[in-house]
Amino acid sequence: MIEVEDLHKEYALGDLTVSALRGVNLGIADGECVFIGGKSGSGKSTLLHLVGGLDLPSRGSVRIDGFDTASVPDPQLADFRARHIGFVFQNFNLMPVLTVAENVEYPLLLLRERDRAARVKRVLEEVGLAEHARKYPNQLSGGQRQRVAIARGLVHEPRLLIADEPTANLDSDTGTQVMALMHRLASERGSTLVICSHDPELLAGAPRVVTMRDGRVEHDRRSATAPAQADDRAIALA
Ligand SMILES: Nc1ncnc2c1ncn2[C@@H]1O[C@H](COP(=O)(O)OP(=O)(O)O)[C@@H](O)[C@H]1O
Ligand SMILES: [Mg+2]
Repeated sequence: MIEVEDLHKEYALGDLTVSALRGVNLGIADGECVFIGGKSGSGKSTLLHLVGGLDLPSRGSVRIDGFDTASVPDPQLADFRARHIGFVFQNFNLMPVLTVAENVEYPLLLLRERDRAARVKRVLEEVGLAEHARKYPNQLSGGQRQRVAIARGLVHEPRLLIADEPTANLDSDTGTQVMALMHRLASERGSTLVICSHDPELLAGAPRVVTMRDGRVEHDRRSATAPAQADDRAIALA
């Protein structure tokens, strides 16, 4: 369960203060798939970063299964993040000097997990890239790179996967496939999935869409037909 309460975030920009979030309240159930929509600049990325513990609120709180991200020392938050959260970004954020397999192994290495090779192999098979394990990111297409990022985001079986505009750099067919894959793999693991996108097409069939505007939640809409629980069929991707 993710509980976002009266969340505020201000950024200092020279002499200016930018209010990116102005009091966001949101509850997200375990295993739920939530899309965050809204125009560019509405606060989507800021919200995702705070929910993922990459940044801290100016005011208000984010609690993940009772763990309050702002109430613990930095190393403890970093440890929580490494253990329980996976991230997928618009620009893939793969490490260019590491192979596909090494990129995917990285979260397990941080956690000093065992059986890393077997787990990397398994998740690369799930994203259909087993035969590319020894390649480098720059030898892959955009869609393949994002599938590597999804494998890396899920290899440690996080309870929460966060994706910030994961399809923005992909053509629409590839984006649709990447989205469906991410949704299915998160759903199979029971991972909660929070995705932001400014693309209305992607949001159209989503089970739950939270629309941001000027740092606030404008709408929180659950689809009548689609179940809120992560379910591959819930998103009309075809
Ligand atoms: N690091 C930052 N420093 C200053 N302003 C920022 C920073 N990050 C975001 N902002 C501002 O906060 C607002 C919300 O940004 P953001 O969360 O990135 O929105 P979105 O992801 O919906 O485009 C925007 O006005 C943006 O310019
Ligand atoms: Mg953004």
